[in-house]
Amino acid sequence: MTQQLPEFHEHCEDSNKSNNREFSDVLQKNLNRRSVLKGGTGLTAAAFFGAVPLVGCKSGSNSTQGGGQAQADNQAAVTASGDLTRPKQLNFTAVAHSTANEMSVAEGYQAEIILPLGTPLVSGIADWQDNRKQSGESFIYRMGDNHDGMWFFGKNSDKYDPKASDTGLLVMNHEYVNPEELSPNGYYTIKDKNAAPIYQKTRLASDIRREVNCHGVAVVELKRRANGQGYEMVKNSKFNKRYTSATESVLSGPVAGSDWVKTKYDPTGFKTRGINNNCGAGLSPWGTYLTTEENFYGVFARGEDAKIIGERQDLSRQRYGMPEGFSSTGYLWHTGKNSDASFPDEFARWDITASATDATQDFRNAFNTFGYITEIDPFNPHSLAVKRTALGRFAHENCAYAPVEEGKPVVCYMGDDSRGEYIYKFVSDAKWSNADIGGGHKAGDKYLDKGTLYVAIFNDDGTGEWKELTHGKNGLDNSVEKFPFNSQADVLVNARLAADLVGATRMDRPEWVSVSPITGEVYVTLTNNKYRGNRDDMPADAANPRSYNNRGKARGNDNGHIIRWAQSNGDHTSTTFAWDIYLFAAPHDLTDENLSGLNANNDLSSPDGLFFDPRGVLWIQTDDGAYTKTTNCMLLAALPGQVNDGKELTASSGTKTRVGMQANDNNIKRFFVGPSGCEVTGITMTADFKTLFINIQHPGGNWGAVAGGETPRSATVMITRKDGDVILAESLQKKS
Ligand code: FEO
Ligand code: CA
Ligand code: CA
Ligand code: CA
Repeated sequence: MTQQLPEFHEHCEDSNKSNNREFSDVLQKNLNRRSVLKGGTGLTAAAFFGAVPLVGCKSGSNSTQGGGQAQADNQAAVTASGDLTRPKQLNFTAVAHSTANEMSVAEGYQAEIILPLGTPLVSGIADWQDNRKQSGESFIYRMGDNHDGMWFFGKNSDKYDPKASDTGLLVMNHEYVNPEELSPNGYYTIKDKNAAPIYQKTRLASDIRREVNCHGVAVVELKRRANGQGYEMVKNSKFNKRYTSATESVLSGPVAGSDWVKTKYDPTGFKTRGINNNCGAGLSPWGTYLTTEENFYGVFARGEDAKIIGERQDLSRQRYGMPEGFSSTGYLWHTGKNSDASFPDEFARWDITASATDATQDFRNAFNTFGYITEIDPFNPHSLAVKRTALGRFAHENCAYAPVEEGKPVVCYMGDDSRGEYIYKFVSDAKWSNADIGGGHKAGDKYLDKGTLYVAIFNDDGTGEWKELTHGKNGLDNSVEKFPFNSQADVLVNARLAADLVGATRMDRPEWVSVSPITGEVYVTLTNNKYRGNRDDMPADAANPRSYNNRGKARGNDNGHIIRWAQSNGDHTSTTFAWDIYLFAAPHDLTDENLSGLNANNDLSSPDGLFFDPRGVLWIQTDDGAYTKTTNCMLLAALPGQVNDGKELTASSGTKTRVGMQANDNNIKRFFVGPSGCEVTGITMTADFKTLFINIQHPGGNWGAVAGGETPRSATVMITRKDGDVILAESLQKKS
């Protein structure tokens, strides 16, 4: 019997311009932002986009009403040296809404800008200049653009030490670039701020190199400052390194060596050039950095070649946002004129049009070498980034490990950030051993190359199940019409098509995932989805229940929500779970939508970054466009309970669902507000809980610019308590 894939033509169009990079919308949004901030002449292109995990604690049934002790079965893998007791209360005064072009942090804390775009990581590279005239090549030694997910790796004697805080490697993603701010020659011109931008037809090689090098990952050694407060960069550290969209990378797992990834660059299909659109981040339990590749399609171009590649390949590309003719408003990296004989396809490789007699003579498959969870060992600067294909190919937001237990498989959770996309998990074949901590890529080979990928189904009754995406199971075989699955590589490269077939639940843009060290429950931000309830393929359902209609204008799920689930019996390998909606984000005065009872001290819109610190405090970051007239994007701290600690209700769409405990000033509170125009994303904490790092992405005005300069710069913000104590420790309240 032949099986048919569900219709996805609109879905595909959505996967394309949909998610973060609806270029026209984004440009307009940013133009307006800069117009407001800079008097109408500002130019910028952007996208938006940011996860972090935890390792090592017990999934148990400890108290979740505050003060629950995160009891670690495996203390060795817990990235903490401090007291693991969760603070009983949020001991700070809420930060007010703000639309100022400066950041504000809770009283008693200080927030400092470090490592802005262009910061040299080694001597001999000139400081960033406001005129942006540094060579594109120099950026392989500088901080890149649009800082995103990150992790602080404690370091002791040049090795990973999850409990070390005095020195460490801060590893972070540089998600994308804003060419109009970054590249002196730009890539479009604007005659009138109300008119569409006019794109260049070709780009200068120097600009493209700068943009390519501003993507990827930075590794920066930090040491505690002499006064004990916060950190400073160790310039010239042997660990300081950039991985860019031009750095050679390894393909590993079932897709490596398959026909999907053979290119002119590597006709054997085991290597590619570059990592791209690195968004959220994850920590592997063995201490490597897991970066992601999210909106990678935006840097490729595709001409007309459907007749050459055939219907099946065309279907694959469409499902990943690359219909024929996709290039007109992208970065146009393929249009550079080459001058480097040692790298003859430097620019041509961004054009995936099938043009030669076979795939090993062109770059039609380069597209399939992106879209993976990618492992970096920051303690081995001579190693290459490794793309772990067993975890599936999609617009990866982040990757969050469940607490590991000796002798059990290791499990991580992942979201595909596009409207109507899915939530996945990966269960390793190998059983966890503490001896692998510090094992680098060798441990990665063990836990990331062999295992089972699943996709989530959220039933309306509050139950859920994981459907296995394995070739030969659940209909993923050669009986599928138009897209027969003949191998596990077919399934993984086309994980979205496989998930469509098994009936996965279309979600409101899954962003970051994090696992509570107290309850073991998994939380995922669903940032927003303007199509929810407005398009036939995305009706409101219990897991995505809001479809907001503002004065007759359908805006779908405008403000986003956070879903969570408890694996059956607390077992992360289980294929069943129970879920509810932890929190509905909304402006507090939007009565019909404010289903969690938020007030002015804790209301938010479009949750995105999400991080349980090792004590079980949940940090929530926003990437918002719906509430920014009232407040800039923010960071909140929360003390969640557990699944089904709330009530049943009916959302404005008429859909019944279950929401968690109502919000109040004791369980969620605003801790920080960023400068105007920015997204607050990426978060990590040192093992002693005394320093919190967050990133400010695409700020407006001249935030982050050099003194007297105009060019705003993304940067890291280092937050410490003025008294040097532990962040959110009880003592602050006593002192104040
Ligand atoms: Fe890069 Fe979905 O945020
Ligand atoms: Ca972003
Ligand atoms: Ca986002
Ligand atoms: Ca994000």
